[in-house]
Amino acid sequence: MFVAHFLVVLPIAAATKLYSTYEFNPLEHLTGVAPYFEPQNPPLSPGPPRKCTPVRAAYLSRHAAIYINDFDYESYIEPFINKWKNHTNIDWSLIPTLNFLADWSPPFSDAEEEILTRVGKLEATELGVKLTFRYPNLKLPQRVWAASAERTVKSAQALVRGLQLRDGTINVVPVYEGEQAGADTLAPSDACPRYQGSAGSKQSAQFRDVFTRPIIARLKALAPGFNFTAYDVYGMMELCGYEAVVKGSSPFCNLDLFTPDDWLGFEYAEDIRYHYNTGYGSPYSGVIGLPWVRASTDLLMGDSGNEQDMYISFAHRALPPTIVVAMGLFNNSEFGGSALTINDTMPLDRINHRRAWKSSHILPFLGNIAIERLNCSGSYGYSDGDYYRVLVNNAPQQLPGCGDGPGTSCSRQKFQEYIQGRVDLFGGFSEKCGVDYGNSTDVLDIYTDPSVGNGTAVTKRGRRLYNVWK
Ligand SMILES: *[C@@H]1O[C@H](CO)[C@@H](O)[C@H](O)[C@H]1NC(C)=O
Ligand SMILES: *[C@@H]1O[C@H](CO)[C@@H](O)[C@H](O)[C@H]1NC(C)=O
Ligand SMILES: *[C@@H]1O[C@H](CO)[C@@H](O)[C@H](O)[C@H]1NC(C)=O
Ligand SMILES: *[C@@H]1O[C@H](CO)[C@@H](O)[C@H](O)[C@H]1NC(C)=O
Ligand SMILES: *[C@@H]1O[C@H](CO)[C@@H](O)[C@H](O)[C@H]1NC(C)=O
Ligand SMILES: *[C@@H]1O[C@H](CO)[C@@H](O)[C@H](O)[C@H]1NC(C)=O
Ligand SMILES: *[C@@H]1O[C@H](CO)[C@@H](O)[C@H](O)[C@H]1NC(C)=O
Repeated sequence: MFVAHFLVVLPIAAATKLYSTYEFNPLEHLTGVAPYFEPQNPPLSPGPPRKCTPVRAAYLSRHAAIYINDFDYESYIEPFINKWKNHTNIDWSLIPTLNFLADWSPPFSDAEEEILTRVGKLEATELGVKLTFRYPNLKLPQRVWAASAERTVKSAQALVRGLQLRDGTINVVPVYEGEQAGADTLAPSDACPRYQGSAGSKQSAQFRDVFTRPIIARLKALAPGFNFTAYDVYGMMELCGYEAVVKGSSPFCNLDLFTPDDWLGFEYAEDIRYHYNTGYGSPYSGVIGLPWVRASTDLLMGDSGNEQDMYISFAHRALPPTIVVAMGLFNNSEFGGSALTINDTMPLDRINHRRAWKSSHILPFLGNIAIERLNCSGSYGYSDGDYYRVLVNNAPQQLPGCGDGPGTSCSRQKFQEYIQGRVDLFGGFSEKCGVDYGNSTDVLDIYTDPSVGNGTAVTKRGRRLYNVWK
């Protein structure tokens, strides 16, 4: 009796707290350097709607946490570290909030660039286990696909370790990241000549200078000899994320060093970059994201006889945001009518805090997008049949104009019409990308093309050795 009473009282006490509590976790605002988290945006229940059962699912995931991305390292982090090493004349131990720099050591060496951290491997394996909880009725896949880079293949292998019950029963298939692959690749931005890797840098730099100006002034007052720049601030903020996924925590995340407002500035500067690079501000985003949406829709909607119930693929950070655009999600203009152009929703002189476009919610390490096919039978108020639903980092998303099913789902017919509408907008990869090689294709074919091969089974190291004794 006492226990029951206690359990009832506790939440009420928590709900009537007298003093406001403010909490802020910088790791949830680090955009491309954010460790995996599920932001519950929107906070809808991730479980299937009542009387609906998932019968198929397609997942696209960014690779898990890595030591360091070479662009971030060369542009921001290495210059900051070299500068710090150079300033032996500064006694950091006397400087508030920066005193850790007196005996800090960088969390990685050059050799570890771009490879998965322990946290990354663990989180990918955890996602594999979570998928078995989410889909207890689905057949385990025979194959999982990954762009051929080491970090994407290793992420797929780590996920498979969580998914398979017996070693060596699920294969990972590497998919070559060719610059002439057309749409038939898991790195389609590389094969799209009109896509510019540097797009958004100029616009992002404009807001970077706005939000770092007072930070630089403050840091210079603390350590006048260091001549802090906007690049140093960026490097230090990125170190918060990278050091956290290597060592478990980072002194650069300290909210006395950078305040919540500072972190929100960093996040917005990066959101501007992604907006113009792989978001609604680039005419190529939807074109690059569409082939996966189309291929997955075909796999999910096809009549029985599918080889697999679950299709999982690993890619790089550029792909999830383009898929989001291809599907029409996180669109700042969705309810804004046509008063503003999409670029006007991301001003470069101040933060649009009400924006839907938040890259931290789309592409953290291991960030993933799912399309599910649900079999609904006796779902109150809806007819029996198959329905389709999209989740981003396990949060159900409402497709604009496609919500005639239970929960956020949409009926087979509406979904088909909706995807056809997106194909009308963004189909024609080769033409819209200005492909300049002869043998391009507009279709992502890897899931059914036998020439892609079966890949390699994921076993524990030493498995063969043990088998000798059996
Ligand atoms: C390090 O200090 C030397 C001598 O003052 C200077 O020439 C060099 O540019 C500095 N390097 C960095 C990365 O600050
Ligand atoms: C086109 O040819 C190039 C060179 O042989 C090859 O790398 C590429 O994968 C081909 N593209 C397609 C879509 O088959
Ligand atoms: C401080 O950094 C700025 C920007 O990089 C540079 O223009 C300036 O010359 C530097 N000042 C000193 C004293 O090193
Ligand atoms: C947004 O800006 C980009 C870069 O200047 C441009 O390519 C794009 O057409 C603009 N979008 C709209 C809808 O005006
Ligand atoms: C974003 O929303 C606006 C307003 O509904 C719409 O006109 C526009 O087509 C949407 N953009 C995309 C790429 O779906
Ligand atoms: C969907 O549910 C109905 C009713 O329970 C069942 O007859 C049918 O086989 C199910 N279809 C699939 C694909 O599971
Ligand atoms: C892939 O595996 C399937 C099922 O095990 C088999 O039927 C097929 O021949 C294999 N294909 C290749 C290219 O090895």
